[in-house]
Amino acid sequence: MNREILLNAFAMNCVGHQSPGLWRHPRDRSAHYTELSYWLDLARTLERGRFDGIFLADVLGVYDVYGGAPDTALRTAIQVPANDPMLLVPAMASVTEHLGFGITSTLTYEPPFPFARRLSTLDHLTKGRIGWNIVTGYLDSAARAAGRERQVAHDDRYDIADEYMELVYRLWEESWDDDAVRRDRDAGIFTDPAKVRPIRHAGAHYRLDAIHLAEPSPQRTPVLYQAGSSPRGRRFAGRHAECVFVSGPSAAVIAPRVAAIREAARAEGRSPDAIKVFSMMTLILDETDAAAAAKLDEYRAYVSHEGALALMSGWTGVDFSRLPLDAQVRHVESEAGRTAMDNITRADTDRVWTVREVAEHVGIGGIGPVITGGPQRVADAVEAWVDATGVDGLNLCYVVMPESFETVVDLLVPELARRGRYKTAYQEGTLREKLFGAGQARLALPHPAATFRSVRA
Ligand SMILES: Cc1cc2nc3c(=O)[nH]c(=O)nc-3n(C[C@H](O)[C@H](O)[C@H](O)COP(=O)(O)O)c2cc1C
Repeated sequence: MNREILLNAFAMNCVGHQSPGLWRHPRDRSAHYTELSYWLDLARTLERGRFDGIFLADVLGVYDVYGGAPDTALRTAIQVPANDPMLLVPAMASVTEHLGFGITSTLTYEPPFPFARRLSTLDHLTKGRIGWNIVTGYLDSAARAAGRERQVAHDDRYDIADEYMELVYRLWEESWDDDAVRRDRDAGIFTDPAKVRPIRHAGAHYRLDAIHLAEPSPQRTPVLYQAGSSPRGRRFAGRHAECVFVSGPSAAVIAPRVAAIREAARAEGRSPDAIKVFSMMTLILDETDAAAAAKLDEYRAYVSHEGALALMSGWTGVDFSRLPLDAQVRHVESEAGRTAMDNITRADTDRVWTVREVAEHVGIGGIGPVITGGPQRVADAVEAWVDATGVDGLNLCYVVMPESFETVVDLLVPELARRGRYKTAYQEGTLREKLFGAGQARLALPHPAATFRSVRA
């Protein structure tokens, strides 16, 4: 039987996110991202559509690679201004029961100790619906904001992240026993001190001697997401990730990447199915194919091509303002992300991209594919994509907010459910249980987080 398709909504606490310029569209509300009602309405819409999660991206730093200045990013609202994603979670959780929250946080600029507590707090407040998208950043502007000259080299960032992960696992899993908190009024014991232990660590990048401050939360370790697909990124994912976000323009680019991520899990002694892979996609839906095609044309009129190139410049570390529009993009290795450049150069040798084509493509939904049509056509294409790539689900970008998500909920979700490819009800339990099944509230061996628990036991 064909598996059910998982759905994530991809957004960011900013204007426009992956569709540069579309904030000018008369029906787009994304410029209201500073208002709580905007996020509460979105959370309710997604839960109405039984979305598995909302994935909130976050980027520290400004997209100033394009033209060597932040001007284009500021003028066209390229992920700036951008607010903190975590602070939205308790409010959205208060109007939903099942929606998961995949929150991006860059480990490069925050010590493990306070970060681990914030995630434990969110796991408590959401009753176990929190996930963390583990990122290390790709912008030198973020490094400069933190008092460094430039960011750490690409592969070294993942080495540092490995050490960081060990520390947060130990805080979440090892510091407090399950039965440490007694709440015993008669004995006057809230927490049994014998069941709480300090984590002591002196490594290459971090030192720590502390007990975790938060009591055990439903999932302990949040559901772990990861989004780097370079060889080193895949190795990191194979070891740590439970969900991986991939993005690329075609199934030919995505399918081998998915296979390589599953292979990386196998190399770490994990099942290839221990990782759910979500690929980025943009759906333009209407009642009929013709109405959807007209909508795409209408959307295109609002794209900021300069903004699209500013985005691409930030992702790749290459200043696209210096390239003629009709020049073919050639591969350059940088210390920013590696996969964004591969997508338009090496990943599909049958396809060459000019700068203009990149700008036009990225203008609607970033580098992912765009599928346009009525419910039947889009459901056919979505099923074909999932089957051809081996992904478990989709990470859906919006073009116009909230229209893009409302049309998915109202038009595509019923059609996929009718075909048996979408859940008809949420699974009970934590986010991990919803994704991986009952009884899976916490990470189990051979995942490295669980080794700290078993060491203690
Ligand atoms: C769908 C998707 C979403 C991402 N979201 C973020 C994000 O919110 N913040 C961030 O710093 N990096 C984000 N990234 C970038 C990755 O974390 C990573 O830095 C990038 O892919 C480069 O790593 P790589 O060279 O190993 O592929 C995202 C990547 C993808 C594919």
